[in-house]
Amino acid sequence: MERKKYVIFTAAGSGTRMKASEPKQFLLLEGLPVLHRSIFAFVDACPDVNVVTVLPKEHLARWEELCLKYPLNVPQRIVHGGITRFHSVKNALAKVPDGAIVAVHDGVRPLVSAELICRMFEQMKHSRALIPVLPLTDTLKSLERSASGELKPTGEPDPDRSRIFGAQTPQMFLSEELKAAYSLPFDTSFTDDASVASRYGIPLSYIEGERNNIKITTPEDMPLASYFLNLR
Ligand code: C5P
Repeated sequence: MERKKYVIFTAAGSGTRMKASEPKQFLLLEGLPVLHRSIFAFVDACPDVNVVTVLPKEHLARWEELCLKYPLNVPQRIVHGGITRFHSVKNALAKVPDGAIVAVHDGVRPLVSAELICRMFEQMKHSRALIPVLPLTDTLKSLERSASGELKPTGEPDPDRSRIFGAQTPQMFLSEELKAAYSLPFDTSFTDDASVASRYGIPLSYIEGERNNIKITTPEDMPLASYFLNLR
């Protein structure tokens, strides 16, 4: 029997790097909240997907307001966020049954294409974990910050750019396996789901990500996202 599909939208960050009056997932991108655009990307690509949305407890009322003003018409389970992204995903996984395919997607990546989402769900029929990655274009330097904030070489060789890739979301897993992986104790190196799954011993498969699938993080990302959206 085919596995049910679930998607967890992580949207419980406070967005301090954005320096905006409200969390970046709620900012309007070409007339719709960023998080709406991320949710629509999935639901349009895959209408039978089950949606779990993780939000900061203190912003639930604002989300309800936004959902009234900009109707989603999509059933969603709302989960309270945790102290880190790891804790937020762990809370959300409690709402996902075993035996499903679960995608975890940053609520602040509204530009992911339907094509990538569909291709990944299809490939998950034969994979245990699927991670979109892109080669990095910048040259990499191994540096650390001194106590005074100055950047200094670590003394280690600079990483070889040809062997380093940037990981994006959505990342997809078999739900019972990702839930088991999230029983690991928290580690600060767990900045995405692939890092948790890999530590638990789940073999990862990779797929080419998308340049436009940016994570809205700093103020200049909003005009960039508008530009990409208008190219469609
Ligand atoms: O902080 P970072 O940019 O890695 O956040 C990636 C995603 O994880 C964002 O969509 C953010 O809202 C979410 N997040 C979360 N819970 C936290 C911290 C971040 O859901 N405690």
